Order: sequence, then structure tokens, then C-alpha cells
Amino acid sequence: MRHFLELRDFDAERLTAILDMAAALKSGADAPKPLAGKTVGMIFEKPSTRTRVSFEVGITQLGGTALMLSSSDLQIGRGEEISDTAKVLSRYLDAIMIRALSHKTLTELAENATIPVINGLTDLSHPCQLMADMQTIRERLGPLENQIVTWFGDGNNVANSWIEAAALFGFELRLAGPEAYHSPAELIAWARKKGANILLMEDSEEAARNATVLVTDVWISMGDEEGTRVADLHPYQVNQNLMSRAAPDAIFMHCLPAIRGMEVTADVIDGPQSAVFDEAENRLHAQKAILACLFDKNF
Ligand code: CP
Ligand code: NVA
Repeated sequence: MRHFLELRDFDAERLTAILDMAAALKSGADAPKPLAGKTVGMIFEKPSTRTRVSFEVGITQLGGTALMLSSSDLQIGRGEEISDTAKVLSRYLDAIMIRALSHKTLTELAENATIPVINGLTDLSHPCQLMADMQTIRERLGPLENQIVTWFGDGNNVANSWIEAAALFGFELRLAGPEAYHSPAELIAWARKKGANILLMEDSEEAARNATVLVTDVWISMGDEEGTRVADLHPYQVNQNLMSRAAPDAIFMHCLPAIRGMEVTADVIDGPQSAVFDEAENRLHAQKAILACLFDKNF
């Protein structure tokens, strides 16, 4: 594959092959070193704990070298065009992972680079997170198509990637939040056209009923203005009341970082149904599989 920009660029079969590889790598399968002698640049325009560390460790484990490139240390921080940056970095590096403020920066980088580009989060999507999340659901609950997933709160970058995942993997996705916070209508329409079962709901208790996965994210994403978000999204806080309405073996998911007492209560995120640290660990395994496939000419 050329780049890893969005889930929708692939079909379910390909993504499942990546998830199978991620599971094999996690179980300690003989790890080849497809990145031996290769250098991967990691551009960050926003902060990161999980993406930065899991990519750096994963690249090292696959035999490569990771180069941390904070945008404030690059000339893009002073206005150099991303297209020039893409062309130059393509002469030194073997791949680029970028966390970008604006989605346009990602697409311009990918259009102008002659090496693979990976989306490490933009304002519009977070596909690497979803690969780790799909791996986590498969481990904890089994087949993806059997799940009922309820997303609570803001229709943000992570929610958008959940919508793509629902279209590709066939689980039911309920989006519970105020109408003004729902993900873009065009994205939902695209997913439905692909056959996705997506429900827009405003009643959080109704949305939790019999769900097998309850998932949320911060109410104020990086780059968002606070405004009235906290008050508007408060009815969608994931708490024991919502968990008690879900399926008995339901899991709680959150990409982290989380703010206890806001989008989720401490008893839920730190409780027995929480899968958040498996999710965080699976970033490493899923991204290693993505990297290995990017460098596999036959994939
Ligand atoms: N979930 C996630 O992407 O975390 P970071 O912002 O710490 O990378
Ligand atoms: N929606 C969050 C995700 C952080 C990993 C943000 O963009 O800040």
C-alpha cells in the first residue's frame, strides 16, 4: 500500500489482514525486521504521548530508526510550504508519520511525498487509533460485526474514524450527542451508502441499551475552543448509570488522554469493564503491522 491516510482507502479484507498481523506480532510471532536500515520521520504539530512513543518503539522493534520532528523545530513552523517539506524529506527518509493541526497538511504532504505517509491524527480523523480499537474489540469480545458500539459526546476526529470503521467492519454504530455535535453529514451519508448501520441519537440512556461497547473521548479536542462544550455534552458523560444499561459484558473504551469527571467517571474508566489500557497497548502492535504492510511490496 502507498500511504495509510484513512480507513476508507482500504477494504475490510485488507484491514483485517493488518489486524491479523497485529495480533500475531502481539503474541510474539517471530518479528521480521522490515524497517532494517530505514528511517521514519515523525512530524508533530500537536502534543502526543501514545502516538509518539508507540510509533518510536514500534519502528525500533521493526529494525528501523525513528526521527522525532516537532513542527516548532522545523521550517514549517516558520511558514515553509508543506509541499517543499514533503519533497525534501522524501530524499532523506523512508516514511513519514504526521500529527497535523489541519487535515489539509496531511493530504498535501501525501500528495507531494514520494515515500509512504501515515496519518497520526488530524482535526478530521485518527485511523491508527481505530486499528488499535478494532484489535481490542476482537480480543475482548470477538467478531467485529457482532458488536453494538455507542459513541457518546463530541462528533470529533476519533468519532469520524469510528464511522469509517462501522462502514468497513459491519458493526452497529450509535452516535449519541446533541445534534450540533454530530459528525459531518456527508461522512455519515457515505457510510450509510456503504451499508453501515448508523443511528443518530440524542437520548444517552436509550443509546446505551444493550450496547457491547461504550466509547467516548474528551469534550475539548486539541485546537477546539471550550465555548459551551462542557455544558452541552454533560448529558453524554459515560457513568455507571449508562454502563448498567449496556450488555452485561460490555466494555468501556477511550483513546486517552481522558479527563475523569468530565466525559467519563473515574469508577467507569478505572473499573473492571474498562479496556482503555489494552487499547493504548494495541497502538503499538497495530501500528507495527501498518508499518510492516507499508514496506511489503506484495501487500
Ligand atoms: N490516543 C492518542 O492518540 O493519544 P496521544 O495524543 O497521547 O498520542
Ligand atoms: N479528539 C482528541 C483525541 C486525542 C488523541 C483530540 O483531537 O484532541
